[in-house]
Amino acid sequence: MKTIIYYFTGTGNSLYLARQLGKQLGNYQIESMAKDPPTQEVGGPNENIGFIFPVYYLGLPRKAKQFIEKLNIRKETYCFAIANYGRLKFDALGLLNDVLQQKGTQLSYEETIKMPGNYIINYDPASPEKTQKLMKTANFKINEIAKAITKKEVRHIRRLGTRISKWGNNMIYKNIEKFDEKFTVNENCNGCSICSDICPVQNIKLKNQKPIWQHHCERCMACIQWCPSEAIQYDQKTDKRKRYHNPEVTAKDIVEGNYTTKS
Ligand SMILES: Cc1cc2nc3c(=O)[nH]c(=O)nc-3n(C[C@H](O)[C@H](O)[C@H](O)COP(=O)(O)O)c2cc1C
Ligand code: SF4
Ligand code: SF4
Repeated sequence: MKTIIYYFTGTGNSLYLARQLGKQLGNYQIESMAKDPPTQEVGGPNENIGFIFPVYYLGLPRKAKQFIEKLNIRKETYCFAIANYGRLKFDALGLLNDVLQQKGTQLSYEETIKMPGNYIINYDPASPEKTQKLMKTANFKINEIAKAITKKEVRHIRRLGTRISKWGNNMIYKNIEKFDEKFTVNENCNGCSICSDICPVQNIKLKNQKPIWQHHCERCMACIQWCPSEAIQYDQKTDKRKRYHNPEVTAKDIVEGNYTTKS
C-alpha cells in the first residue's frame, strides 16, 4: 500500500512529522501543499492519502485549505490527517473534514499532536529541553498512528469547538493584505535571500538585497524564524525573542520540499 502525505509547514514541525510517519509506513511520498496540487486523481483502494498541517487560528492554514479544495481525490480513499499545534487545537480537523465532505469524501482517521509553538508574535519559543520532550512524545504518537493507518483503522472525527474554530479562522484571515506591513528588517540583513526562498507563497521579493513583503502573507512565520541573522522583526514584539525552527529540519529541506517531489 502506498501513502501520499501532503504537508504544510513554516518552521518544520509538520515536515518533521510527515517524514517520521513516512519512515514508519514505508512506500511513501511526501509533498508540500505550498505547491500546486497534481491534476491527476489521487487515492483509491491502493493509495492512502494523508494531510499534516499546523493549526492556524484554531483552524486550517488557508493555503492548505485551498490546496485540499483543489485536490482530486477518489471517493473510496482512506484519508487521514494529523493537526499539530502549540496550545489550542479546537476543531481544526473538523474544518478539514468539512472541506473533504464537500468533495464527496471524508477523514477515516485523525489525530492531533502537540509540538513547539512557533507564533513568535505572541510568545517566546519553548526551551530546547521542552522541545526535545515534545518531539519524543510526538515520535511515540507517530508510531501509534502508523500502526493504525497500516491497519486502515477507522476513527470518526470527534468535533469540539466548531463555532469558535470557524470564527477564529475567518476573523484572522480578514485583512490579510495588511498583516505583513508590520514586518521590518534591520541592518543585520546580509541579503542572503533565505527569507524570500523559504516563503511558501512567494510573498517576499528582494530589492537592493533587502526583503520587501508583497501583501499576500499566509503568516507561516518562516521568514522571521529562519532568517539566520535574526534581522526580521514584527511590530516591535519580537526583538527580544529567540527564534524557533524544528531542530531536525533545515531551511534547505523546506525550500526543496516546496519545489520538488521527495519519496
Ligand atoms: C499563524 C499561526 C497561527 C497559529 N495558531 C495556532 C492556534 O490557533 N492554536 C495552536 O495551538 N497553535 C497555533 N499556532 C502554532 C502552530 O500550530 C504550531 O507551532 C505548529 O507546530 C507549527 O508547525 P510548522 O512548524 O509545521 O509550521 C499558530 C502558528 C501560526 C504561525
Ligand atoms: S533571511 Fe535575513 S539576512 Fe537573509 S535576506 Fe532575509 S532578512 Fe536578510
Ligand atoms: S511573508 Fe513570511 S510569514 Fe508571510 S507567508 Fe511568507 S514566509 Fe510566511
